[in-house]
Amino acid sequence: MSTTTLNRRNWLKSSSLLAAGLTFGTGYRSAAETATQRRKILSDMPVIKARLSANENPFGPSEKARKAIIEALPESYLYPRQHLIEFRKMIAETEGVSEEHIMLGAGSGELLTSTALYYTFKGGPGTHIVSGDPSYMQLIRAATQIGCGWEKVPLNKQYDYDLDAMAAKVTDKTSLVYICNPNNPTGVVTDPGKLMAFCDSVSAKKPVFVDEAYIDYVADPKKTSMMECIRKGKNVIITRTFSKVHSFAGLRIGYLVAQPEVVKEISKFGAGGMSISATSIRGAIASYQDKDFVKYSVAKNIEAKEFLYKLLKENGYEYLPSQTNFVLFPLKMDSKRFVEEMMKRGVSIRNWEFEGKQRSRVSMGPRDQMKMFADDFNQIS
Ligand SMILES: Cc1ncc(COP(=O)(O)O)c(C=O)c1O
Repeated sequence: MSTTTLNRRNWLKSSSLLAAGLTFGTGYRSAAETATQRRKILSDMPVIKARLSANENPFGPSEKARKAIIEALPESYLYPRQHLIEFRKMIAETEGVSEEHIMLGAGSGELLTSTALYYTFKGGPGTHIVSGDPSYMQLIRAATQIGCGWEKVPLNKQYDYDLDAMAAKVTDKTSLVYICNPNNPTGVVTDPGKLMAFCDSVSAKKPVFVDEAYIDYVADPKKTSMMECIRKGKNVIITRTFSKVHSFAGLRIGYLVAQPEVVKEISKFGAGGMSISATSIRGAIASYQDKDFVKYSVAKNIEAKEFLYKLLKENGYEYLPSQTNFVLFPLKMDSKRFVEEMMKRGVSIRNWEFEGKQRSRVSMGPRDQMKMFADDFNQIS
């Protein structure tokens, strides 16, 4: 008997057992029992009063975006092709590039993953990504899952990128250089002049990927962005998301800007905009034009940050001044315990450990949630 037959027979045996088990299982469990289990799961889950862990933006979506989404509902049986084209055109005009420079995605995370797949596939065995550490891991995580290496360069004393050390790590085997600016989890922004010089020289050898998820929160987004490199024809790739300043984390819209030939290649590993819903794209078109909302969103974020800075200062804590919608600060206790204690009280935050220091990252929220954080922080810290 061949191995194939055996495997097939075993597979048939196990799959029929599985099917029988599934049928038996569902019939056996009474509806009451399932409901009890469900209730138990729900009652075991902590009630979250303040969600300050995922860098979402609770100050929106804007009224105009909400209205556009509701208006889009009756037409949601259609693929939103026309609106994807319209949105791409709007971005191209604003950024001063052509429509061929732009790829759309359901959030920028999808675009980070498509990029990781394309460059790891293109580079083949032995390829690596160069990045600062710590940084946002989605692209690196996806690439390393499929065999890409990771050359991490520790941040410098100012918690900024050590650009010289990163440039020195770039070899023939580098697939791309990943830079998150401003960086997550530090909230630090890199000097635009220095980063521009880095992008200019390194992109002549290898693509430089700049994740600008938080760019709208910096003092001067236009000056800080590396979009000019793309307009100059450099091999730089930029992603932006609507999840932050536009409050679209649950609606899922992002875009990537790069040279047209690069967009063409990365697009082969993406969904071609088909992952974007008709409602989200209509909402994004409205939000993109709503400059007042963006201003409001940024102002509310600054208000929350000032509240947190004051709290930390009053309690003798240091913090990294942030150009994003989150703040990282060193703790005086174990960071995992801090997260657990806060969670028990219904406040969700993130913990980080690097350079041997225990740290917490807190996302900005509405005044009542920041106050809840402050009350619990005063009890625990
Ligand atoms: C730096 C950075 N890039 C990308 C993302 C992905 O966001 P999204 O997929 O919602 O666009 C995040 C999410 O927090 C982020 O912090």
